[in-house]
Order: sequence, then structure tokens, then C-alpha cells
Amino acid sequence: MPTTLVTGSASGIGAASAQALKAAGHQIIGVDLHNADIVGDLSTAEGRAQIIDRVLTRCDGKLDGLVLCAGLGPQAPASRIVSVNYFGAVELLDKLLPSLRHGEQSAAVVISSIESAMLPWDQNPIGATLESGDEAKAHEIVMGAAAEGGYLAYAGSKNALTVAVRKRVAAWGQAGVRLNTVAPGVTDTPLLQQALDDPRYGDGIRNLTAPLGRRAVPDEIAPVVAFLMSTAARYVHGAQFVVDGGIDAAFRPTQF
Ligand SMILES: NC(=O)c1ccc[n+]([C@@H]2O[C@H](COP(=O)([O-])OP(=O)(O)OC[C@H]3O[C@@H](n4cnc5c(N)ncnc54)[C@H](O)[C@@H]3O)[C@@H](O)[C@H]2O)c1
Repeated sequence: MPTTLVTGSASGIGAASAQALKAAGHQIIGVDLHNADIVGDLSTAEGRAQIIDRVLTRCDGKLDGLVLCAGLGPQAPASRIVSVNYFGAVELLDKLLPSLRHGEQSAAVVISSIESAMLPWDQNPIGATLESGDEAKAHEIVMGAAAEGGYLAYAGSKNALTVAVRKRVAAWGQAGVRLNTVAPGVTDTPLLQQALDDPRYGDGIRNLTAPLGRRAVPDEIAPVVAFLMSTAARYVHGAQFVVDGGIDAAFRPTQF
């Protein structure tokens, strides 16, 4: 039975993905701030180090799967968004690769966002800072952006996250571990509800109508995660699977 770590397992897309993977025969180790096998905080370097230590002890240095869903929306404090959405994913990727190398037909999926393409790398004011690992400097930039900070932190961290995955495909391919991202559109979860309730972001999100005419539910994202984690996807590596009811294609028909 494959052992798969899922972050953000207590809610939304992470909970639905854990459920779908369980149904596909995975043994899940859930990580979250609450209601999880490993309770920990991905927003600080210390919290991440503790989580990684506890994961390695629990899986005895051998993991078959990694699904990184933990994240915050644009309404959260900007510095915390950067820390959880970028470092809370990239540090786990880098530190858990050795244990995935010991797994069987190992694979990882990172939940990014359609926002990753809305703020492209060459216009991302925090991209290079995040890539260099300078968490304090990234905090400084987003906190200095005042009202724009939450959106900048969200889109900038998701863009840098997808770039970080794409830049790792050669090394991960050589290690025999597949690595892909899923980019959800507007999906009904507690995170989305908090963003809808925020006067800075609510109307913008409500006006973002998907060509399919409705928002997604987490159970429509989870099967795509489960597919990417399965051997049916054994030649899929370095891809970003957009699951957004057509929003990205409608916004950027000539860019893909
Ligand atoms: N809901 C959407 O519309 C949408 C769209 C695109 C991308 N996403 C991404 O999907 C992922 C899952 O989000 P969701 O919508 O299911 O939200 P959610 O709030 O339902 O779930 C996120 C989970 O992450 C956990 N988390 C947050 N901060 C953490 C921390 N410091 N340490 C450990 N765990 C922490 C939360 O406790 C929660 O259980 C996020 O990365 C989000 O950015 C969501």
C-alpha cells in the first residue's frame, strides 16, 4: 500500500484529495494546523523543520507520494501567505525528495492556482526573491505593497511555486519521482469563502465567472490529483493541470 503525505488535509481540496487517494488504496499521513496525523505549522522555518522530522520518523524515510495542498488565500496576512504557499511547499519538496526516491513509483502533486499564470514570472516582484530562499526579504516586499499586498503575495507565491516545480523536473526525473502541479480555478472551500467575505476581494471573485457557468467543488479537483498520483499518469511529469471550468483559456486564449 503506497504511503502518501497530504498537507492541508483537514479541509477543502486537501481533504478531498486525501479521501480520493484513500479510496485508491493509499495510506495517508495528513499534515495540518488541526485535525491531522501530524499537527504543525508550515508558516515558520521552525514549524516546517518539525513537520519534516516527524514525517521522516513516521514513514521511516520512505514515502511513495506527496500532495501539497496547504495554503492561504489573498485575504490572509501577506507575509504568512508567502511563507505557507511558497516555503511550506518548496521546502517539503526539497527535504522529502530523498524519502520519495526510496518509494515505489513515487510521485508528487503541488496545488498551485490559475493565478500562477495571471502574474507571469517576468512581472513577478517576489519571484527571484522567493527562488533565492530569502523569506524575510519577500515578507518585506509584500508588506510594503499595502492594500495590494495580499493579492501580490498570493499570485506571486503561486507563480513562483509553479516555476519552482518546473525548474525541478530534470532533477526529479533523474531521481525517478514524477512531479506535477494542479491549478484549480474558483473552488468552494473555506479559503474561498473567507476571500468572498473580504471587501477587498469579494466582488472580484464573484465577477470571475467560469465558462462552465459555476464554481468547482473540491471533489472535482481531487480526481485529477488522484490521476496524477496514479500509474495511469506514469509519463506525465512537469505538467500543470488546469482545473478551472475554462477561466484560463477564456482570459488568455493565445498564451499556453
Ligand atoms: N479554493 C480555491 O478557489 C482555490 C483556487 C486555487 C488554488 N487553491 C489552492 O488550493 C489549496 C487548498 O486550498 P482550499 O481552497 O482547499 O483551502 P482550505 O482553507 O479549505 O484548506 C487549506 C488547508 O491548509 C491548512 N493550512 C493553512 N495554513 C497552514 C499552516 N500554516 N500550516 C499547516 N496547514 C495550514 C488549513 O488549515 C486548511 O486545512 C491552497 O494551496 C489554495 O491556494 C484554492
